[in-house]
Amino acid sequence: MTLTTIETTPFPDQKPGTSGLRKKVPVFRQRHYVENFVQAIFDSIPDREGKTLVLGGDGRFLNREVVQTILKLAAGNGFGRVLVGRGGLLSTPAASCVIRKHRAIGGIILSASHNPGGPEGDFGIKFNAANGGPAPESLTDAIFARAKAITRFTLVEAPDLDLDTLGETRLGAMAVEVIDPVADYAELMRELIDFAAVSKLFASGFRMRFDAMSAVTGPYATAILEGMLGAPQGTVVNAVPKEDFGGHHPDPNPVHCHDLYDLMQGPDAPDFGAASDGDGDRNMIVAPGLFVTPSDSLALLTAHAHRAPGYAGGLKGVARSMPTSRAADRVAASLNIPAYETPTGWKFFGNLLDAGLITLCGEESAGTGSNHVREKDGLWAVLLWLNILAATGERADALVRAHWQRFGRDYYARHDYEEVDADAANGLMQALREKLPGLPGTRIGDLTVSAADEFAYRDPVDGSLTERQGLRIAFAEDARVVFRLSGTGTAGATLRVYLERYENDPARLDRPVAEVLAPVVVAAQAIAEIAPRTGRAEPSVVT
Ligand code: G6P
Ligand code: ZN
Repeated sequence: MTLTTIETTPFPDQKPGTSGLRKKVPVFRQRHYVENFVQAIFDSIPDREGKTLVLGGDGRFLNREVVQTILKLAAGNGFGRVLVGRGGLLSTPAASCVIRKHRAIGGIILSASHNPGGPEGDFGIKFNAANGGPAPESLTDAIFARAKAITRFTLVEAPDLDLDTLGETRLGAMAVEVIDPVADYAELMRELIDFAAVSKLFASGFRMRFDAMSAVTGPYATAILEGMLGAPQGTVVNAVPKEDFGGHHPDPNPVHCHDLYDLMQGPDAPDFGAASDGDGDRNMIVAPGLFVTPSDSLALLTAHAHRAPGYAGGLKGVARSMPTSRAADRVAASLNIPAYETPTGWKFFGNLLDAGLITLCGEESAGTGSNHVREKDGLWAVLLWLNILAATGERADALVRAHWQRFGRDYYARHDYEEVDADAANGLMQALREKLPGLPGTRIGDLTVSAADEFAYRDPVDGSLTERQGLRIAFAEDARVVFRLSGTGTAGATLRVYLERYENDPARLDRPVAEVLAPVVVAAQAIAEIAPRTGRAEPSVVT
């Protein structure tokens, strides 16, 4: 085994986004593309000598190959030990858990989350810091600066390692330990969730379907639900991770996970339905006959979390991203705990969690999490739901309806206008921005604008200010619409329009969502001039 330094030239486009460097597979397959970026990460961790690094990914196409490359680079860069998930697998929340538990200096997660995989699909490389959370912007900026100036990388030349056998080997002076990707995570879940109560629930005949969408949560859900909690075999479907996710878009929402959604609406619905995304951080919850919006799920978990051992002492606070409905705020008020409103993006929860200001957090984009790791966690949310169902003895749909009776219901929908011309989308946002001051008092259809502003966030922990995080318009009729452009799209621009309307008349809690929101949709389309500016009469996706 020899240490080799290889000359290289920089790629100008290695700027990490919200969730690391995400590009199409052919981009990553360019010669030295991976090596350059990983070396730039390592160069940005000056105190790495002898330290532990965690490594794994969601199993998508290129995962195994890139794991081998990173191991050789890590050995060439002085790391003492790498913990790598068997088969190169680690879900995003499990990676966060392993980093924290083993006091690693950080971890590299290979994933493009819920984006499609395969030779023409997406791939991604993301660095998480010692707290288990995504690298802060200061670090990703440093990585980008380094990537733009890189001239060489160093690796140990050696044959590929066996990633499928547990145990320790060496690569030069560095130890490589292939770990069970599920074990540490499952142990953490056992501390937080009442496994005995959930096992009893399954033993009593409770039935669920968990759709792993041919992605990384398959092994986790199978081991925990079927293995440890006694759910019948076959509870987890699409349980084997595939490099292309079976050709699907592994995003757990009613559109991309429609088999589960349809099953739950039909006569053969089991007691509970759930799904997770490509890398295991998102979740979808479906009660029999009733899709639970991520915003409602966060509110319900906030109201009932104390029923699980990990949260028996109560919650310190709860946070939601701004476009997430205000349902969780109502619960926080009743519990007399603070509720925080952050910009879109999981990283904004990190400071609040690290400072102990919040215990739970969530986003409308199907992310829910707690202080147990520093990533959102799909399977954890499902287990917390199961704990609550076991503790209350209620049906999932009854629990949601009881929640609405108590707190009122925030009817909610998101309209996405995908692949809109970028100039048109920016023009729409700019025109609306300029219009905001004049909107209050304006009547549009049946609604009257009561407030309009652009969201900016002052981080209560480090005082930093993040501006231009979405345009929000509130109506006197207890309705709200938020406009923002997606920060994760790959083609053109995606305009997201978040619509909500609060209702607390007990007789009006079970109405069709589209019907309740129709006046808000009309107002949103008119105020933002969506059709004339984008040429789109209808959204491309409604969730
Ligand atoms: C990623 C982040 C989430 C965020 C979402 C927003 O999934 O991890 O925290 O909510 O992107 O995506 P968008 O496309 O709306 O910017
Ligand atoms: Zn994800």
